[in-house]
Amino acid sequence: MLSARDNDALTRVGPGTPMGELMRQYWIPACLSSELEPDGEPMRLLLLGEQLIAFRDSAGRIGIMEHRCPHRCASLFFGRNEQNGLRCVYHGWKFDVEGNCLEMPNVPASQDFKSKVKTKAYKVVERAGLVWTYMGPRAEAPPLPEIEALMLPEDERSLRVHQRECNWLQSLEGDIDTSHFGFLHIGSVDADDVDPATMHRWSIVDRAPDYHTRETEWGTMYTAYREAEPGTYYYRFAHFLLPFFTHTPNGSFHDQIQCTINVPMDDTHTMTYNVGWTKRTPPLQTLKTGEPIPGLPPDMTYLPRTNDWYGRWRLAANRDNDYFIDREMQRRSNYSGIQGIGRQDQAMIECMGEIVDRSLEHLAPSDRMIMVTRRRLLNAARDLQNDKKVPATVDGAHIYRGARGGAFLAPMDLDWGEAYTRNLRNAFSPLGMLMAQAAE
Ligand code: FES
Ligand SMILES: [Fe+2]
Repeated sequence: MLSARDNDALTRVGPGTPMGELMRQYWIPACLSSELEPDGEPMRLLLLGEQLIAFRDSAGRIGIMEHRCPHRCASLFFGRNEQNGLRCVYHGWKFDVEGNCLEMPNVPASQDFKSKVKTKAYKVVERAGLVWTYMGPRAEAPPLPEIEALMLPEDERSLRVHQRECNWLQSLEGDIDTSHFGFLHIGSVDADDVDPATMHRWSIVDRAPDYHTRETEWGTMYTAYREAEPGTYYYRFAHFLLPFFTHTPNGSFHDQIQCTINVPMDDTHTMTYNVGWTKRTPPLQTLKTGEPIPGLPPDMTYLPRTNDWYGRWRLAANRDNDYFIDREMQRRSNYSGIQGIGRQDQAMIECMGEIVDRSLEHLAPSDRMIMVTRRRLLNAARDLQNDKKVPATVDGAHIYRGARGGAFLAPMDLDWGEAYTRNLRNAFSPLGMLMAQAAE
């Protein structure tokens, strides 16, 4: 349970809000690189509650700027993207990707004041198939986060995106709420139904594990653990990484390189990106017969794209159609009756309402990660607000290298933190990163 004041502080992201200011210290994924073509159509972009326009100029550079033209505030969405600049169609003023006014053709040359006009434009870089923007206060932007999944070579990287009609924190808390996995996603599966050799069957044998959680330099981490082979625990580790990244536990720790990013479009809409390594060992997906686990195969069909502020990457299964729930399937084979792991998650986090009233909750010991993560975020936002102190990850991009999610077996008499460090040291990294060093 959370007070209305704290809930507000955690969920509001506009300029001047505690969480909005915290996020603005970091680079923020704005859209996919593939969404912007040189001299292509300008695109409406909603980011942290700000209405922006994104475009790629003739030279391939990207501009992300205030959508209102600084002349008389017509929207640059209607602009002409031509010859290295975006031209407002109202009176023809033209701007480059940095927001400089290049031409002012409706004003006599003698009265031209274009050198004095600049529209708000944010810094932009591209990495991992994403366009990143820096909306913060510094003249020099901080480094990009050294998150392993975001540094993979393009041909070994999977990238998916979809929009969620709810607040960013609700979306993120779905990622770190591990206890739902044994119910929402695989609630209809018995331990006997899966390959007896897979270690992941322990998550089915025991659906009520214990937890360890702790704050870390990058954010927070937890492990869910339960007894497995004699003398061992089956651990599932996952992380929250400031300000909006997660590493989920669904796979083998050894090679599970994955990252989810929950970027607030505004207070009630979130763009969720999933980045992963295509060569990782697949997580538990099939029954021992080789058939897919009922309800698990994804179906991320999108609605047609529109130019609306909310028109990109919306899923066909949504709140209006109850995510196509099939009650017959729910009775017979699939615990939720909703098809696809992503859609199941989407239904649960959106059905709470746009911004869930957390004063109504009754959190359980299984929600400890959610509790410590809220506290971590609130403290980080308040340190910034009261003492102008930024989290270490803003400048220490390498800190993120110490975080890896996934499952492994370890001896019971080994401390859980030590078990994590040892497995990180031995983890496979396609980048040849010295994971062990990062962990120390
Ligand atoms: S409003 Fe854009 S040029 Fe006048
Ligand atoms: Fe889930």
